[in-house]
Amino acid sequence: MDPVKAISSDRDQARKLADTNADICFLALADANGRASVRTLVLRDISDNYFTLFLNKTSPKWTAFEEGTGHEMLIWYASVLRQYRVSGKLEELDQSIVSQNWKNRPDGSKYLDSVYEELGNQSSPIDSRHILTDKISQLKQSMDLETMQAPAAVSGLKLTADRIDVLDLNHQDRIHDRQLYTYDGGTWTTQVLIP
Ligand SMILES: Cc1cc2nc3c(=O)[nH]c(=O)nc-3n(C[C@H](O)[C@H](O)[C@H](O)COP(=O)(O)O)c2cc1C
Repeated sequence: MDPVKAISSDRDQARKLADTNADICFLALADANGRASVRTLVLRDISDNYFTLFLNKTSPKWTAFEEGTGHEMLIWYASVLRQYRVSGKLEELDQSIVSQNWKNRPDGSKYLDSVYEELGNQSSPIDSRHILTDKISQLKQSMDLETMQAPAAVSGLKLTADRIDVLDLNHQDRIHDRQLYTYDGGTWTTQVLIP
């Protein structure tokens, strides 16, 4: 079995079943000090053996990514009762893909992406929410959505999977099925794990 295809097919099924996790994943990163952090991200494309994510380079997660200390992506589709833990090579996504996709962002997200340059890095403190909403109002006045381009800090990540741990809860008596898939560059091999 190709576990990336299995994730893609489970995602289709999860979408049909209106699973609130159908389009998201959870990305855990470790920074250079060994501090772990995890956050929800929209899981964009799933193709061949890779997954794409969009994020902002001003955010703490970008720093943690650059430090390259460790990462893992988790996917949990409650509607199909399967969990996937994905690791592999994490790298910056081609900027042309990011810019192209950015055009389809909701209007509010476009303004938010534009706010970091003027107000401060994503996840940095500000004195009040009003400062943010006032800045967004200013941007709405001054920027034309039709001609707006993706700010330079808008970026993406590509995770090329070489290890996928699948936990399948579709078994009776809570005796779950757990399989570890590893990719050797040509084929996926699998090993049964004690769940
Ligand atoms: C459903 C959902 C989807 C999200 N999607 C994204 C996303 O695609 N990209 C992103 O940067 N943050 C996304 N976020 C926000 C992140 O979880 C996080 O709060 C933010 O990126 C700041 O993360 P950091 O401080 O760890 O860098 C999403 C949050 C939720 C709840």
